[in-house]
Amino acid sequence: FSNVDLLIVGAGFYGATIAERVANQLQKNVLLIDRRSHIGGNAYSEFDNETGIEVHRYGAHLFHTPNETVWTYLNRFTGFTDYKHRVYSTYRDQVYSMPINLGTISQFFNRRLSPDQARALIADQAAEMAGRNPANLEEKAISLIGRPLYEAFIRGYTAKQWQTDPRDLPEHIITRLPVRYTFDNRYFNDKYEGLPIDGYTAIFERMLKHPKINIALGVDFFSLKSSLPPGLPIVYTGPIDRYFDYSEGELGWRTIDFEKETLNTGDFQGMAVMNYADETVPYTRILEFRHFNPERSYQTEKTVVVREYSRSARRKDEPYYPIDTRQDKDVFLRYRARAEAQTNVHFGGRLGTYRYLDMHQAIGAALKAFESRVLPHFAEGQAIG
Ligand code: FAD
Ligand code: NA
Repeated sequence: FSNVDLLIVGAGFYGATIAERVANQLQKNVLLIDRRSHIGGNAYSEFDNETGIEVHRYGAHLFHTPNETVWTYLNRFTGFTDYKHRVYSTYRDQVYSMPINLGTISQFFNRRLSPDQARALIADQAAEMAGRNPANLEEKAISLIGRPLYEAFIRGYTAKQWQTDPRDLPEHIITRLPVRYTFDNRYFNDKYEGLPIDGYTAIFERMLKHPKINIALGVDFFSLKSSLPPGLPIVYTGPIDRYFDYSEGELGWRTIDFEKETLNTGDFQGMAVMNYADETVPYTRILEFRHFNPERSYQTEKTVVVREYSRSARRKDEPYYPIDTRQDKDVFLRYRARAEAQTNVHFGGRLGTYRYLDMHQAIGAALKAFESRVLPHFAEGQAIG
C-alpha cells in the first residue's frame, strides 16, 4: 500500500466516480477493490453467452436523470440510446398500462372517460377514507386512488413485494401513487433518459481506464482491513452495519431472487417489463431483456427472460432495498454517528448510507463528495471522513 493515496471499497457508480475524479483531476493513486469478480456494482451487465443479449445481472437498470451535471458527466463515458421506459401490468388475464393513466382507468372501468370524469370518479372512490387518518398501507392507498384500482394494481403486487398483507404494512411506505389523467405512459418524467449504447459495463471500463487506478477484484475489504497502514484515507461503499461488525444491530433490506430462462422464441411478451398484479402469481414481474435494445440486431429465435421474486434479505443475500423501519432508522443513526467519528473513512453510496439511490443519485452524490470531502483532503489536508 506504500504508493496508494486512496483506497476505495466498492466498484459501483459511487466508488467508480470518486476513482475517476481522483485519478484524472488530482493525479493521485487509487486502489479500487470489490469483493465481486467484476466492476460496475449493481449496474453491472453482461452479454449472455448463448444469445448475445445484454442482461443486467442485478435487475433491470434504466438510466434517467433530471440532473444536467450528472448527464454531462456520464456522457463523457458513453452515448445513450433513445430508449424510453414503459411498463405494463397483467391483472386477471388483461394487460394494462402503468403507471395508472387515462388508458388504464378507461380500460379498467370499461368506458370512455374524459380527464375530468376520471378525476371525479377516482375522487369519489377515494372518499371512502374521507375524514379518517389511514392506519396502514391499504387505507393510505385507498385514500389516494380508491378501492377498485388499489385492489387490482396495488394490493397483490405490494403483498408480494413485502411478503406482508398491506393491512399490516405502515402507511408511510407510500406517500403518493401517481395517477395520470392523460394517456402519457412514459414511466419516468426526467429530462434525460436512455440506455448506454454498448452496455453498462463499458461505462465503468472507460471511467476506470487510467494508469493511476489499480483495480483488485474478488477482494473483501474485511480480509485486508487489519493490514492497512493506519490513517490511510478510505472511501467505503459497502454496508455500514458490516463495517462496525453489526455491533449496533443489523439493518433490514429486501432482496430479489432472479430466475433466468432462455426461451426458443424471438419475443415472449412484446415489451421489457411486465408486472404481475395478481397475488396468485408468485413473481412480481418478468423482464425480457432484448426489448431494452430494439436498435440491436439480436438473433430472432431466442430470448432471455428473468422472473423476479421479492423477499427480505438475510445476511448472506444481496441487499437491494432498505426496509427502513423506525427501528432501522434508529440503528442507522447510531452507525452514522460512529461513521462520522472515523476521520479517515468516508462512507458513501447506497450501502454506506443505507438509502435507496438511483444511479444518477449515486453519481451526483459522489461528484458532490469529491468536491466537499476528497478535494479538500488532498488540497488542504482536511480529514476525508
Ligand atoms: P453498488 O452498485 O451496490 O456498489 C457497491 C459495491 O461495493 C458492490 O459492487 C459490492 O460488491 C462492493 N462491496 C460491498 N462490500 C464490500 C467489501 N466488504 N469489500 C469489497 N467490496 C465490497 N437505478 C437506476 O437509476 N435505475 C434503475 O432502473 C435501477 N434499478 C435497480 C434495480 C435493482 C434491483 C437495484 C437493487 C437497484 C437499482 N438501481 C437502479 C439502483 C442502482 O443499482 C444504484 O444506484 C447503484 O448501484 C448505486 O451504486 P453504489 O456504488 O452506491 O452501490
Ligand atoms: Na467519517
